[in-house]
Amino acid sequence: MPSTVIVGAQWGDEGKGKIVDLLAQESDIVCRYQGGPNAGHTIIFDGETYKIRQIPTGILSGKTAILGAGCVVDPEVLVGELDAYGDRGTFYVSGNAHLIMPWHVAIDQASERRLGDLQIGTTRRGIGPAYADKASRIGIRVQDVLDPKILRQKIEVALAEKNVWLERVYEAETFDLEDVASRYESYAQRLRPYVGDTSLLVDKALRAGQNVLFEGAQGTLLDLDHGTYPFVTSSNPVAASAATGIGIGPNRLDRIVGVAKAYVTRVGEGPFPSEIASPQQEQVRELGGEFGTVTGRERRCGWLDLVALRYAVRLNGITSLALTKLDVLSAFAEIPVCVRYVLPDGTDTANFPAHQSDFHHCRPVFETLPGWQSELDDELPDAARAYVEFVERALDVPVQLVGTGAERERVLARA
Ligand code: GDP
Ligand code: IMO
Ligand code: MG
Repeated sequence: MPSTVIVGAQWGDEGKGKIVDLLAQESDIVCRYQGGPNAGHTIIFDGETYKIRQIPTGILSGKTAILGAGCVVDPEVLVGELDAYGDRGTFYVSGNAHLIMPWHVAIDQASERRLGDLQIGTTRRGIGPAYADKASRIGIRVQDVLDPKILRQKIEVALAEKNVWLERVYEAETFDLEDVASRYESYAQRLRPYVGDTSLLVDKALRAGQNVLFEGAQGTLLDLDHGTYPFVTSSNPVAASAATGIGIGPNRLDRIVGVAKAYVTRVGEGPFPSEIASPQQEQVRELGGEFGTVTGRERRCGWLDLVALRYAVRLNGITSLALTKLDVLSAFAEIPVCVRYVLPDGTDTANFPAHQSDFHHCRPVFETLPGWQSELDDELPDAARAYVEFVERALDVPVQLVGTGAERERVLARA
């Protein structure tokens, strides 16, 4: 299949990096189509662990790595990753992608502080403010780095307004024009050679029969339009946005692989029906190493939620699932799985509620499956296989990959 989208089917951190790394071995190009350095994708092979936030992880395998127009780019993070991994593969960034500026980070932090108890729990990397400026049509784009005069002028115009906001609204430190302009000019000098027409590049590759992977960041339930708003990110992680985020037609996407953990985690605030109420939450967190890649925060842990996963199958058009971290559940004698929600009016449903009040106040209905309590190896024990088949039956989607450990080779392919 020439083109494959790898999309997070939960609230992010599903193990997309590992699945992308695995499938990248048979791909020519790996693209990111949305998000920025709020992503943290962990890849482990040959005894090394890599945590990548901005560049598509395919760079590690010597592939062509592309950041599409739908991404936001923090040049400081990007230059750092290019220094570390740039010489392993080839890299291009779309001139239409937007730059994260220092005031975006400052405003993200100040606005979360101001929200207090109502905060979203963002990664504080400036993602929301950068996408807000993009939508307001006052953003600074990657192509603006091509001309030092234009870059400086845009920084000057933006800063005149942002400093007023920072000082008067957020009572935060302001930025010095000369300081920002010279810092960004030095990033610009590094980035200029990498700016390319990424839409054309991907189109040509697909026409030539090359294999292209689209690496989603975040996850379906963090989608700005379809996720658990306002506790979402500011881009569209859903698979369809691989087309808009790169600049190709939706009919070019052949295969949609949804990545889901065998349980669920969530970082940041917001409703989470299947969150584990007992000390078993701590046990899952420890066994799964569920601490954020970007922020180090504890991830909240829940049992697998098939209502939310069914929603992800629908929103993305998932053609197969990769079920990761099944090994983490090996410790449990019994494993609850959320199969339905009871809504505040007493009715129950297997479909994700369309109204946020229903979702915020729903009660999960669990079915308990037997555990296997043994290590996972090349062949799944009966109870582990039954767990996977239960998921397939409930969603009517094949589980083609099962994660049994963090390293690249710890994955089982199912027919
Ligand atoms: P991503 O953001 O979706 O790429 O996921 P993260 O890298 O943030 O988090 C997933 C974590 O789970 C990483 O630490 C991975 O190394 C790890 N991981 C991925 N797949 C498996 C698996 O099948 N088993 C175990 N035990 N760990 C896994
Ligand atoms: P990967 O690609 C998990 C969450 C944040 C917060 C919300 C908004 O590693 O799966 P933002 O900084 O985007 O404005 O934060 O989204 N979030 C993630 N959670 N994995 C991610 O990325 C995330 N990126 C953002 O915790 O709740
Ligand atoms: Mg992550």
